[in-house]
Amino acid sequence: SDEECDQRIQAAKEKLAERCVILGHHYQRNEVFKHADVSGDSLKLSSYAANSEAEYIVFCGVHFMAEVSDILSRPEQITILPDLAAGCSMADMANRVNVERSWNELNSIINADEQVTPVTYINSAADLKAFCGRHDGIVCTSSNAKQVLDWCFEKREKILFFPDEHLGRNTGYRMGIPLEEMVVWDFNQPMGGLTKEQIQNAKMILWKGFCSVHQMFQSKQIDDFKKKHPETIIIAHPEANFEVCEQADYVGSTEMILKTVREAKPNTRWLVATELNLVNRLKEEVKGQGKQVHFMSPTVAMCSTMFRTDPQHLAWVLENLVEGTVVNQIQVNDDDKQMAKKALENMLSLF
Ligand code: 13P
Ligand code: SF4
Repeated sequence: SDEECDQRIQAAKEKLAERCVILGHHYQRNEVFKHADVSGDSLKLSSYAANSEAEYIVFCGVHFMAEVSDILSRPEQITILPDLAAGCSMADMANRVNVERSWNELNSIINADEQVTPVTYINSAADLKAFCGRHDGIVCTSSNAKQVLDWCFEKREKILFFPDEHLGRNTGYRMGIPLEEMVVWDFNQPMGGLTKEQIQNAKMILWKGFCSVHQMFQSKQIDDFKKKHPETIIIAHPEANFEVCEQADYVGSTEMILKTVREAKPNTRWLVATELNLVNRLKEEVKGQGKQVHFMSPTVAMCSTMFRTDPQHLAWVLENLVEGTVVNQIQVNDDDKQMAKKALENMLSLF
């Protein structure tokens, strides 16, 4: 049972003490989240992994996050993902074969190697971060995309942004890039389904990828809610679509959403467009300050892969560590590690 797992997790944590740190992403369910030593968004957790002294980093998040932890931590440190099936469907939308083919196609029209900087959202596999490292590119997160794009435009005139078209568009638009200068590259079609002129004129080429959880939020939900409660403040994750982000008062990472609502004036009403577990916890946390937090979608929008991590898997990996056995280690191969690290360090050096 979950109760028995709680006790076993606590007992294992006490035995492992500072040899082990448990990192918990904000989308983790409560039964897991409460065991995390550190919680945060992707950037905060990756930076923590990079500076941690722990021998074992148990990452309660999804696969790409554990890969980043393995890339940035020291070689002798071990990163563990409690359930190996905890992936990210958006990250899976850009695979190395498609991205390399697309890059070659771009090179047949423009000089991509000289004109285009590849940028990958941190929600991507290690081999794509390595692709960016090899092509003088960079990684970004939802909390630093603007600064990363500024860095890119200082070097080259165009950006290939993957895998999330929404984060790319929302960030580019807020930096003043007109929508006409952003085109969507459909990797299922030759030449991304674009004409030569569209590619030549584009400042940003956005990979056709998305987060299915954040596509549940629609601007009509904002309109309907505001009819009943006009004073509502709207806050959205930048993986939500353009219309939702344009109507939002604040757009930012999971960490930024939490900070903004926590620090807001009492007796305010918030409509939030991000994953349900985060919103439910925030609602409980701030209700004592008279703040009303509402989930934007009328239907459940939960990240099913984040949900895979449960107390049973967490207890299992920790008890194995107590016995001296490592299970579910995430290890990126050396070639990809070196190049992905270069792209990640390009990002980290900006802050
Ligand atoms: P954050 O970096 O904002 O936590 O986002 C990660 C994520 O997967 C959002 O869907
Ligand atoms: Fe991936 Fe979306 Fe889940 Fe975030 S919420 S981990 S982007 S599937």
